[in-house]
Amino acid sequence: MGKVVILNHPLIDHKMAKIRNKDTDTKTFRENVNELSALMAYEITRDLTTHTVDVETPLAKTQCKMLSNQVVLVPILRAGLGMVDGIQSLIPTAKVGHLGLYRDETTLLPHIYYAKFPKEIKNATVLLLDPMLATGGTVVESIKVLKEKGVKDIRFVGIVGCPEGIAQIEKHFSDIDIYLAALDEKLNDIGYIVPGLGDCGDRLFGTK
Ligand code: URA
Repeated sequence: MGKVVILNHPLIDHKMAKIRNKDTDTKTFRENVNELSALMAYEITRDLTTHTVDVETPLAKTQCKMLSNQVVLVPILRAGLGMVDGIQSLIPTAKVGHLGLYRDETTLLPHIYYAKFPKEIKNATVLLLDPMLATGGTVVESIKVLKEKGVKDIRFVGIVGCPEGIAQIEKHFSDIDIYLAALDEKLNDIGYIVPGLGDCGDRLFGTK
């Protein structure tokens, strides 16, 4: 089974308090989601492989390590976009794919309306981004798309999750690591995480 990691850290907890607060304005919310995502990326990439390179400092020749993995960020539209800049501030070489899905109101099945990925995605470390791991339905569909592309190293990164969402991923896949900044109590009957932070897309983009 993949790991479930809740990234407990005082800086993460502090920023979580800001984004959970209903009175936080759009700009502060967006900044904190980006900063949280960067803090998370630091931990999530701890096991990436490196290779040795020769470097000449102003004083001597030495050997250093540089990243070997190509990292690809795949934000699930639209709220996942709010996590991209923060992670790219730490990994500027990360490429970005985009994945848009909607749920058919009658069949309730997810449909892909947009998918565009970098060519190298198959051998990359893919960070699949969605701030809210709620029912897990969209995430499961997104993982299927990435697996169909041959991606082997997929890490899901969310800000807030709930037991129902984790169970849904684990029901379908045994090899996906799940990283969250907070694990909340439950989903309510309209699919919102409680206590959560409300609609993350609306709060990021000021659409409510
Ligand atoms: N999506 C959100 O933006 N918030 C939730 O609580 C659940 C899904």
